[in-house]
Amino acid sequence: MRPIYMDNAATTSVDPRVVAAMLPVFSESYGNAASRNHAFGWEAEELVEIARREVASVLGCEARELVFTSGATESDNLALKGVLRAYSSKGRHLITTKVEHPAVLDAATALERDGMDVTRLRVDSEGRVAPEDVAGAIREDTVLVSIIHGNNETGVVQDVPSIASVCRERGVLLHTDATQSFGKIPTDVRALGCDLLSLSGHKIHGPKGVGALFIRRRNPRVRIEPILDGGGHEGGVRSGTANVPGIVGLGVAARLASEELESDPHRIATLLERLERGIRERLPDGVLWNTPESGRLPHILNFSVTGVEGEALLLAMRNVAVSSGSACASASLEPSHVLLALGRSPAEARAALRFSLGRFNTEEEVDRVIDEVGTVVGTLRAARARHRTGRDGGA
Ligand SMILES: Cc1ncc(COP(=O)(O)O)c(C=O)c1O
Repeated sequence: MRPIYMDNAATTSVDPRVVAAMLPVFSESYGNAASRNHAFGWEAEELVEIARREVASVLGCEARELVFTSGATESDNLALKGVLRAYSSKGRHLITTKVEHPAVLDAATALERDGMDVTRLRVDSEGRVAPEDVAGAIREDTVLVSIIHGNNETGVVQDVPSIASVCRERGVLLHTDATQSFGKIPTDVRALGCDLLSLSGHKIHGPKGVGALFIRRRNPRVRIEPILDGGGHEGGVRSGTANVPGIVGLGVAARLASEELESDPHRIATLLERLERGIRERLPDGVLWNTPESGRLPHILNFSVTGVEGEALLLAMRNVAVSSGSACASASLEPSHVLLALGRSPAEARAALRFSLGRFNTEEEVDRVIDEVGTVVGTLRAARARHRTGRDGGA
């Protein structure tokens, strides 16, 4: 039997309604959206524009403020590198945080290699950035602040509107990585107050390899330099033949997510609370909660089981698919930079598990997972205690 999938922050299954919308685009509406000379091209372009309007309506922005990309990694890179390069005569300073996704952290490091200056803000013990710290870090030459909206490891949600007020007052642009929050909590760009926002298709039951970047067009109009050279697609901002099936899938996935957000906003949050309650009951001691109790995303629960190695725990939990730390970094056993920034020790960070729910998880699955975690931790702890007793006894 396949394990229960609770790794939806890593990726999600594609909703069958999204698949159904995409299929005809592969074999029938397969034109190049940039082909202006025939109906195949016009049809593909029309599909792209419908999807652009669908995503724009979830963000509360204009369709022309959206650029389709290959995913949030590209959107983050485009936002940081594109803006810093476009404003290099104004300044060379970028402010971000210690709890960003590697797509932002590593883009910032690349910019440093190009001679830009980067400030990485600390966070409190729940992983939040203080708007005052942002204010304190802004300098004459600051161009951009980039702050993750909902954290992919712990689920903590940053106070983007307050940070946006600080940035606006000081004439600095704000980018937010909303990859985990888009479709899960409101991400209206006017309410958030951000100037740029990244999102991705495959976190919302859409396809992989497609995402978008919101780039504000007025008040202020954000300038951005392309990071890919080529045919000048997407208004010259992102060259490369449009991934029409992917874009169609993203549009439908965004629409479905926003419909679900309106009709059933608490279903996943309620399941997550059930999971948390169950784990608390089964493991009353020795658990460090890395996800705060409030101000969090509805689908991510992260905790460290002390006295047990996260990897050993994962290996033993055969019936549930979850992550230890961030999926993106799970190829390495390095402790999570996000959990270290919260003040966790390397051992505590290594013992972290991230459960993330999606549209298709059920109450029954949650109950089975609670049982699995309780049993596996109990067994590992007992084995450890036996090992200790044996060692002490032999000494
Ligand atoms: C917060 C965040 N930003 C960026 C990304 C990268 O997204 P993509 O896989 O679409 O490149 C992810 C995915 O793990 C993420 O969670």
